[in-house]
Amino acid sequence: MPMRSLWAIVAPVFLASVYLATAPAVPHAQETTENPFTTVLDVRMGERLFRQQCGRCHGRDAKGGELGPDLTSGLQNTSTDAGLFKVVREGLPNTQMIGISRSATDQSVWMVVSYVNSLNDTADVDLPGSATAGMQLFNGKGNCASCHMVNGAGGRRGPDLTRVGNRRDPDELVSDLTTPDEDVTPRWWTIRVTREDGSIVEGLRMNEDTFSLRLMDENENLWAFSKGRIRSYDRIETSTMPSVDGMLTTNEVDDLVAYLFSLRREES
Ligand code: HEC
Ligand code: HEC
Repeated sequence: MPMRSLWAIVAPVFLASVYLATAPAVPHAQETTENPFTTVLDVRMGERLFRQQCGRCHGRDAKGGELGPDLTSGLQNTSTDAGLFKVVREGLPNTQMIGISRSATDQSVWMVVSYVNSLNDTADVDLPGSATAGMQLFNGKGNCASCHMVNGAGGRRGPDLTRVGNRRDPDELVSDLTTPDEDVTPRWWTIRVTREDGSIVEGLRMNEDTFSLRLMDENENLWAFSKGRIRSYDRIETSTMPSVDGMLTTNEVDDLVAYLFSLRREES
């Protein structure tokens, strides 16, 4: 077999394995529809990339230029992160929209996606509630701060909500409050351990491997168990968060949502 055709067979395999060996631990575009790069820093990096590669057509501030449309007042071609990823990666066929440079990593594309999304935040939607009243409820009657941290103050038994308005829209926040048992990620599952003497310890699962378990109980005490030295343990996959249904009025829920949605990255 002549060398060249052998190389044609070997090369793709070889390149694929080099790619696998050197690729960072970032999910591949085809496999993920959720943007893994959404922090404030990612948005900034995305903005920088945008200015370098997209600004000449869309304008430095993305408000539109001679060649490309305004990207800050809603997008026509896509409504999902995955769709936007594809547009930025591949461009739009038969238009001047050429997309990002071919050498750009998936990470860079996601950062640009985050930046473009940040321009289209539903930042000024009119919400029925009052954010000020919501903040008072959060720290007072609603008892939310006992589990949730905002700007460094509060409990650790639930997710930090300092920037929750960037990741959840108002509708999603309403369901977070009314149906907390839906979509609980394993990070927030409860483990109930029955010790050899029959006593029970319950807490959020902080860490688990083949041999050990670490929990945080409701007083934020940490417990470590060796699995061989307990009688049994159960996973409880519901949320420890109580639903606000029946505890708060609809108006109070609106106030909380207005407050939570105001917890966003500051507009620069
Ligand atoms: C050579 C000019 C040019 C460059 C460079 C360019 N674009 Fe575009 N872009 C366009 C044009 C023109 C359109 C409108 C295409 C159409 O629908 O006719 C467009 C459309 C888009 C859209 C779709 C808008 C919508 O409403 O759906 C997005 C998103 C977009 N561009 C993002 C980018 C990003 C991000 C970059 C940089 C990685 C970039 N573009 C680089 C010219 C450009
Ligand atoms: C006993 C602790 C506890 C209390 C009290 C509590 N939460 Fe939670 N909260 C959690 C946990 C644990 C989660 C994560 C699991 C889930 O999705 O339900 C969560 C999730 C959330 C989320 C979704 C966050 C995200 O990143 O997706 C929001 C929003 C929220 N809580 C708001 C509130 C508000 C507002 C109150 C007060 C009315 C409150 N919580 C009271 C424990 C609590």
